[in-house]
Amino acid sequence: MFCRLTRVTHSMSKRVYLETMGCQMNKLDSELVLGQLCRLGYAPTDDFRRADLVLLNTCSVRQHAEDKVYSRLGEVARIKRERPEMVVGVIGCMAERDHQGIQRKAPHVDLLCGPGNLNQIGDLLAEVLDTRQRAIALEHDRSRRTPKDRRTLEHDSIESLDLSRTAPPDGNVLQAYVRVQRGCDKFCTYCVVPYTRGPERSRPPANIVDEVRKLADMGTREVTLLGQTVNSYLYAENGRTVRFADLLERVHEVGGIERIRFVTSYPGDFTDDILQAMRDLPKVCEYLSLPAQSGSNAVLRRMRRDYTAEQYLELVDKARRMVPGISLSSDFIVGFSGETEEDHQATLALIERIRYKNIFMFKYSNRPNTKADRVLPDDVPYRVKQRRHSELMALQHRLSIEHHRAMIGRRVEVLVEGPSKPALKARQAVEAGKVKTSRRADQLTGHTRGDEIVVFAGPDSLIGRFVTVEVTDASPLTLQGMLAGGPGVSPIR
Ligand code: 5AD
Ligand code: SF4
Repeated sequence: MFCRLTRVTHSMSKRVYLETMGCQMNKLDSELVLGQLCRLGYAPTDDFRRADLVLLNTCSVRQHAEDKVYSRLGEVARIKRERPEMVVGVIGCMAERDHQGIQRKAPHVDLLCGPGNLNQIGDLLAEVLDTRQRAIALEHDRSRRTPKDRRTLEHDSIESLDLSRTAPPDGNVLQAYVRVQRGCDKFCTYCVVPYTRGPERSRPPANIVDEVRKLADMGTREVTLLGQTVNSYLYAENGRTVRFADLLERVHEVGGIERIRFVTSYPGDFTDDILQAMRDLPKVCEYLSLPAQSGSNAVLRRMRRDYTAEQYLELVDKARRMVPGISLSSDFIVGFSGETEEDHQATLALIERIRYKNIFMFKYSNRPNTKADRVLPDDVPYRVKQRRHSELMALQHRLSIEHHRAMIGRRVEVLVEGPSKPALKARQAVEAGKVKTSRRADQLTGHTRGDEIVVFAGPDSLIGRFVTVEVTDASPLTLQGMLAGGPGVSPIR
């Protein structure tokens, strides 16, 4: 981790260890929190044992994620016993959902901050340091539904801080996430997010465009617009409504930005105007993250997803017609309440039929106080969930290989992000004198417009540029290729 602002601060600056669990929203929140802490003179460290401030940005979506937090808190407690001045904070969804449990089970936690209050992190920290008492900021009454138009007027929280986007803490300016919406109103029966992140609130489009412009000025070429159900973005402005397709158009006008992505889309709200925008706006990439969750209508109904498998398939067919070459990603939950073998087969059939680029699959985890927790028994045995999960994995493994193999011989546009992981290792080995040279050291990596990962040999001068790569080989997760036109080829932009 690298924090630019710390270069001008005191060499004895305090150290912050910030660990992020969970989704892209959390990654973005962590980046913004770290930005604030850097301004306060903190420098990031990868070692919590040496940190003055330990923050865990947590996820509540599955029990496993929460268990990990308690296990990390246990390790941190041992260090804090030796160094009681260390400040320990739990931020994010679990702080919001289980603040009482955390205070009871982990009394050494000094700071609790929910995802909607992260703009207060500096004040909370000051409070802990001043008073040596626990400081807490949470949003209450999360299930309360307020009228949409009032919510859209709510002020941005952490994004509105003056310097929040001027210093990306990891130094990577090339690609950036931009939040366009907070919270979720869908209340899928299994999901904790509407309770931890609150109601859906869309950010004013002018603020979003300003932020994208700022990022472009810093060198960002690719933005990913983030929202729990990003395609339901809706903002009332001067008596007009700005819909997601309108927002795409506005972001598209920002000079310097070359690629626009958006995650995650809710299939039930996917209107044709968005597909038209994807077709007509050249910067919008041919990629969709469209969680289906299940291929069985009975399960979808119990999940309270308001579409059927047939409607989902229709949407995918339309997307493929309107945006040729589009690549698709999805999430699936196996072993949800009442899922029969037949339901599971329907999910496998849907996956086989759609041929996703990749999918994320999860074993159903009952979350306290969700609708499913209240009325639907968690009745699929764990070993059955495990077996169904493995079957999804095996199927997708084959489909991912086929997806990637079908690209062999094609030329793809790649935004060059940096040396590949093996190249970084090879470079370290050369530097440490373990080997003299390594063929892998000049391997670069980047993504295509369809979000495929590509590795190829090339000079570091190409980092940050767009190049054309001819695909020569494929594995389930990556494409291998060579610069079209051979080494020394000019970047396309
Ligand atoms: N159990 C398992 N998976 C879940 N997800 C959300 N809630 C649960 C749960 N209770 C999955 C969904 C969602 C992804 C982010 O996490 O597939 O799309
Ligand atoms: Fe959770 Fe459903 Fe909202 Fe996604 S759409 S965050 S699964 S409630």
